Amino acid sequence: MINQNDHEQNRMVSPQENSEEAAFEKSLRPKKLTDYIGQNKVKKNLEIFMQAAQKRGEPIEHVMLHGCPGLGKTTLAHIIANEMSGNIKVTTGPTIERTGDLAAILTNLEDGDILFIDEIHRLNKIIEEVLYPAMEDFALDIIIGKGPSAKTLRLDLPKFTLIGATTRMSLISAPLRDRFGATFKLDFYHDQDIETIIKRNAEILTTAIDSAASSQIAKRARKTPRVANRLLKRVRDFAEVKADGKITETLAKQALNMLEIDELGLDEIDRKILTTLITKFSGGPIGLNTLAAATNEEMESLEDVYEPFLIQLGFLNRTPRGRMATKLAFTHLGFTPKTNQNQNNLL
Ligand code: ADE
Repeated sequence: MINQNDHEQNRMVSPQENSEEAAFEKSLRPKKLTDYIGQNKVKKNLEIFMQAAQKRGEPIEHVMLHGCPGLGKTTLAHIIANEMSGNIKVTTGPTIERTGDLAAILTNLEDGDILFIDEIHRLNKIIEEVLYPAMEDFALDIIIGKGPSAKTLRLDLPKFTLIGATTRMSLISAPLRDRFGATFKLDFYHDQDIETIIKRNAEILTTAIDSAASSQIAKRARKTPRVANRLLKRVRDFAEVKADGKITETLAKQALNMLEIDELGLDEIDRKILTTLITKFSGGPIGLNTLAAATNEEMESLEDVYEPFLIQLGFLNRTPRGRMATKLAFTHLGFTPKTNQNQNNLL
């Protein structure tokens, strides 16, 4: 049986990274902030933040990066490490299972190192508490013994920088949030920036691509670099097999149509979600759990993976009474919009 996670992983436009493409993505990753395309506000602030620390001769303060999957949080963490000339150690919230795991990571760091914790919202509460003195005082508190005779031993840690990344800022506790010197939010990219990323990456891959072809791929890449890179890779395969390897507009369109990704980047699952909402629930409002049951998707995947892009497109609204399909969604999928619908953004 295919589980939900496999389902999501096999999806051509999933913003989640699958294991094979990690190496591919790594090879395309920009190393300097000036090569990082888009997210101008973040770049400007980050540049000042890094320069100020460099002037003081100190490591930068802890940084929190948040935004939807695939927008380049990991890439940015590597860039920060590179620009600050520090080593980067990468881990994830769910893989740190015991306080001892975190203690081992922290005691192996050196001054100026970057510790990158992806999915930091999934860190267990007890482990999170070990992070507080580590972040604030560069100290690790070890409790020796039990009961009334228990003692706390404080170990000094090197002056490191923690970079936390999360797709769910609302799940970060206030004490953890407050210990970050800066928080940067990554937004969905403009299509123009996605197009530039595609052109840059095609060049790195030594694949010839027309401007019109990169524009076609960009339009369907859900404003997400990871999706753009995956589509580029598939279109490149298609060009190598069906033609001479050069990606033209016609060829890109053929490849993308074969992958059943429409001109806005919606795939079969997006269409299923919206069609279910429209045909079974008259466009909503409907609760998240009902929508999950009716579409056979997990609530968490709906919230974190599918919905953000549908909301961004203006196809779905999260209202206090539940999810609603907008007039734009009705029209895009070929349904007649309801005339008496109280859809605040479009009617
Ligand atoms: N790869 C992932 N995100 C990127 C970005 N913002 N610029 C260039 N390449 C990227």
